[in-house]
Amino acid sequence: MAGSSHQMVIFPDFKLKICLFLCLVGIVSALDITSSADSQLNPSFYGLKCPLALLTIKTLVTAAVLKEPRMGASLLRLHFHDCFVQGCDASVLLKDTATFKGEQNAFPNANSLRGFEVIENIKTKLEILCPGVVSCADILAVAARDSVVALGGLGWQVPLGRRDSTTASFSEANSDLPAPFLDLKALIAAFQKKGFTVEEMVALSGGHTIGRGRCVTFRSRIYNESNIDPTYANLMRANCPVTGGDDSLSPLDITSPDFFDSAYYRNLISRKGLFHSDQQLFSGGSTDSKVKDYATNPLLFRSDFAKAMLKMSNLSPLTGTQGQNRKVCSRVN
Ligand code: HEM
Repeated sequence: MAGSSHQMVIFPDFKLKICLFLCLVGIVSALDITSSADSQLNPSFYGLKCPLALLTIKTLVTAAVLKEPRMGASLLRLHFHDCFVQGCDASVLLKDTATFKGEQNAFPNANSLRGFEVIENIKTKLEILCPGVVSCADILAVAARDSVVALGGLGWQVPLGRRDSTTASFSEANSDLPAPFLDLKALIAAFQKKGFTVEEMVALSGGHTIGRGRCVTFRSRIYNESNIDPTYANLMRANCPVTGGDDSLSPLDITSPDFFDSAYYRNLISRKGLFHSDQQLFSGGSTDSKVKDYATNPLLFRSDFAKAMLKMSNLSPLTGTQGQNRKVCSRVN
């Protein structure tokens, strides 16, 4: 009797020890997963470090898009313009100072990029929740995905653990961000330089199924080009005069400007691409067939776009001890 009561005391104690041991192993291996993620991106990077990070970003992005649908387009473009210059390192968010020249006044960005205050607002909230943990580069990548989803597109699992740069490149922003006046050959080259195939370039261009463009970026197309639907050209001219009105806006996708669908490609087939560069994808060249594929197979476009965005979000990230996690996205610590 005494023996069995002795066993009854020891046994739970033993179990507790095993349990403690397993818990320790669990914690150590979890730490190992997060520390090994320091050298490469990982979707669960913030799982232990800041469990509410992704939900916070999604909530604030969705609210911003509900308030103004165009914001979804602006946030998607912000991530693209970040990744094509120095990689996805939030370099695009650094503001010019007396001693620092960033990317925001480069030709493709000046008077054009928007959404900075949404990112900064998210950052402020995350600094309260988990100070110094979530990078601005990761916020940009997740906000782009959440924007596409908020406007009806397919999501992708964003790998995380990017760090923020302490530098930016005005000259690379000017040289590496594609201009709307480019021909197909130059568009292919611009994306090839970042490791994308022609097909991926066509899929990523579908980002123009949402958002707006300024008159100054498409004026020469609507007045001088022949590969354009005449009724469409007239309609666009009404809001974009030969002189003046440089900043007046028109939808990139005239059919459904705030919905992430494949109407962009159907517009190209009916010669209603807004930019010269858009219409280049369907102008008798090698990309015509892909445009037709996406125009007729919306599901294929949705999934190819998500895959290509995932690839874009992996462009040369800073990881581990490289760079820093900025406290405020617009300036280095
Ligand atoms: C293929 C080469 C590309 C060129 C030449 C190009 C050019 C442009 C231009 C000129 C604008 C209008 C800017 C303004 O008027 O202020 C614009 C807007 C936009 N671009 Fe692109 N872009 C390209 C690729 C992409 C990619 C890959 C994405 C995303 C995946 C993207 C997403 C957007 C979005 C969403 C807008 C609308 C932004 C807003 O309404 O605030 N673009 N693009």
